[in-house]
Order: sequence, then C-alpha cells, then structure tokens
Amino acid sequence: MTLKSFEQPTVAPAIALSLSKIAVFESHDESSPYFAGWKAYDKNPYDESSNPSGVIEMGLTENKVSIDLFEKYLEKNSLDATSSRRFSCFRDIALFQDYHGLLSFREAMASFMGQLRGGRAKFDPERIVITAGATAANELLTFILADPGDALLIPTPYYSGFNRDLRWRTGVNILPIHCDSSNGFEITLAALDSAYSNAESRGLRVRGILITNPSNPLGATIKRAVLEHVLDFVARKNIHLVSDEIYSGSAFADHEFVSIAEVLEARGYQDSERCHIVYSLSKDLGLSGFRVGTIYSYNDDVVTTARRMSSFTLISSQTQQLLATMLSDEEFMVGYIETNRERLRRRYRMIVTELGRAGIECFKGNAGLFCWVNLSPLLKEETVEEEVALWECILREVRINISPGVMFHCTEPGWFRVCFANLSEQTLQVALARIHDFVDRRRANQ
Ligand SMILES: Cc1ncc(COP(=O)(O)O)c(C=O)c1O
Repeated sequence: MTLKSFEQPTVAPAIALSLSKIAVFESHDESSPYFAGWKAYDKNPYDESSNPSGVIEMGLTENKVSIDLFEKYLEKNSLDATSSRRFSCFRDIALFQDYHGLLSFREAMASFMGQLRGGRAKFDPERIVITAGATAANELLTFILADPGDALLIPTPYYSGFNRDLRWRTGVNILPIHCDSSNGFEITLAALDSAYSNAESRGLRVRGILITNPSNPLGATIKRAVLEHVLDFVARKNIHLVSDEIYSGSAFADHEFVSIAEVLEARGYQDSERCHIVYSLSKDLGLSGFRVGTIYSYNDDVVTTARRMSSFTLISSQTQQLLATMLSDEEFMVGYIETNRERLRRRYRMIVTELGRAGIECFKGNAGLFCWVNLSPLLKEETVEEEVALWECILREVRINISPGVMFHCTEPGWFRVCFANLSEQTLQVALARIHDFVDRRRANQ
C-alpha cells in the first residue's frame, strides 16, 4: 500500500540523534570576543551619513586599502573577476581539474612570492601546493606533520584562528611558547626550551613549531637572528618548522622582512626538509573571498602528500586562471605592492600619532594590517577579567570593536589588536577621536 501524500509515516520514539565527537568539539570559539564583537557591529554598523553613532569594526584583519587598484586593473584589461570573458579558455577551466592546479597559476604564484621577497629567495612552482586559503594550508600541514594527541609549539601572542584551524579536525594540541613585552615579544631560547619541556612533562610528542612572520597580532617582522636560532632549535630537536608568511607583502618596507626562505638559501638549504611556508593572497592582496592559499614545502614527501590531500581544498580553475594573468603582470604587481605598503604605513602612523597624543603606547610595528596597542594603563587591575571588561566597555560605550590580547594568548593583560585596513581613512579618524575622548574620560575618573 502506498502512503497518500498527506499521511505521515509512524514516528519512532525520540532517540537523541548524535553527531561525531569531532563535529561537536568546542574549538570553533564561537563564544569568543571575536564573534561577540562582530555581532555587535553587524547589528549596528557605523556609516558616516546614515548611522554616525554606529559601531566601528576594528577587529577584522581585512585589507581594503588598495582594492581600487584591482578594480581599475580588471576594468582596463577587460577581465572580469566573476566570470571568464576569455572564452577561448572556457574548456580549460570548466572541465576536470587535476589536483596539481594550473601550471600557469603555480608559476605565477612562485614568481610573485620571490618578488615579494625582493628577489632574495627563489620558489620552485613544483613545490607549490594550492589550497583554499591559509586556513586550509595550515590544517593540511598539521594533518601531515602530526598525529592526534601530538603537539605543535606556537609563540605567543598568536592568531586566534590557529586554535580552530590546527586542532579541530586533527586532534593535535597547541602549546604556547611564552613571549612578553620585556624584550619586544621576541622568541628566546629559554622560552623555546621551557615550552618543549612543558610538552614533555605532559607526555606530549612535539612535532613542530609554527611561527607567523610578520606576526599577527604584533604587526612586526621577526629578526633574522631569531629565525636563525629557531632553525637551530628545530634541527636540534629533529622537529618541523612551519612559517606562516601570510603578511609577507604587507611589511611597510620590503627589506625589513626576512623570510625563512632567505635564511635557508643562505644556509645552502641545509636541513631545509623540515621547513614549510604557508602563504595566501587574503591579506597582502585583500582577496580573502577568493580563498587562495599555498603550502610551499622543501620536503618532497610533504609536497607529494599535501598535493594528494589538497583534493579536499582546491581553488576553482577560474580563480586560478584570473590570478595567473594578474600575478604575471610584474609591472602592475610591483606598483600594487609598493602602493599598498605605503597606504598601510600611513594608516599605522595615523594610529601611533593619535594614540600617542592620548598618552597611549603602541608596539613598534613594521608590517601587517593592525597595530598592537597597550591599554594596560586604563585597567583597574592587571587581570584578564579586567581586560575583557575594558574591551566590553569600549564596544558598548565607544562603539568600537577591537580585539583583547587574551584572544591571542597574550600573558600580559591590557594589550589589544587594532585593525586599520578594513575601513576608510575618514572612519579611522572618527575611531581615533572616539578612543582619544574615552581615554581622557577614563583617566579623569581614575
Ligand atoms: C596568521 C594567519 N594565518 C592564516 C589566516 C587565514 O587566512 P586565509 O583567509 O587565507 O584562510 C589568517 C587570517 O587572519 C592569519 O592572520
């Protein structure tokens, strides 16, 4: 007998329908200030004319400062970011894509990465594995380098997304390498040793160190001498080194950034098989919506395995083709990077100058889309609770969303990351004036 459309089959008694342990693992951090701040902004977004008292979002590491250059380029070259107008290639991009990605794209990416490092390091297109953004690249590398229950060591303060990206599906642990303001948050040998011993005492096998250079949230590059001693440390312990260089093109001056690739080149690639670079176009080019990332590994086995596993996280051929064309236009890209650096530097200076007038100290940065600001003089007590209370007060009273240091595992309360590349200069000025007022009021009441 067939069921008539309006008849329901008998419902079985309710049994909880569970999901996998991995799926429900609490590492998406949805309760963190990042999401709370974003929601507050989303409900009441600032607009110069229609909502001048709205929330200004300064918690988002998005780069909009030079998007106009891409728009002009696409228009001038009759390229379209949303559909391929180059019809002769339609078949090439519409049909099956093998997981190596388009050679033209890998070549363009390799030469662009060399260009960003002022030609001081070379990249081989055969070592480029493409991924959907740096998020996927970091997760993929973690899968390859570590087993569930193993540990990766990461210097603090570090990008809050690592908790989700590196741990959630891999089952790998993150242990902090504690760095502090006493030496400008530099990674010391003592901090490396202590993090390693901490892992050992907890019975965890350390598989590698992940550094971010330039650093998010510090907005500063890592010195060559520090890279040298991190490299020596990983060699001594026989572990891997991942260098997330997603902000490499956003150093305000090209020569101030030293890539791990340059250090390896200077060492004649000795011990290079333990090193892997992560890069993406999300920050330097502001193309986070395109989801374009890469793993560059000096280890043949890692390249082969990552390429196989990259089937889960490929980039569409249409995007690869468009970017291959754009990235190979050296004249345009050199101009873009130069202008972008200059615009970022200008924003950074605006913040340092204006907050300096309000008596607030900023960490001496030289890269990135943000400034690391010390608001500890405004804390009632130097505790994480007070830091979060100050963040909430700034969000509700000043209507500005910034990110408290606890999100980045900073051990000193009072540091905040302030993003400056996702808003216009006029909006930045409004935000800085609001902060200045707030600091004056808060000091008057202290
Ligand atoms: C250090 C770092 N790595 C990775 C990512 C993720 O980048 P993507 O958008 O390319 O996945 C970010 C984003 O903020 C980041 O700051």
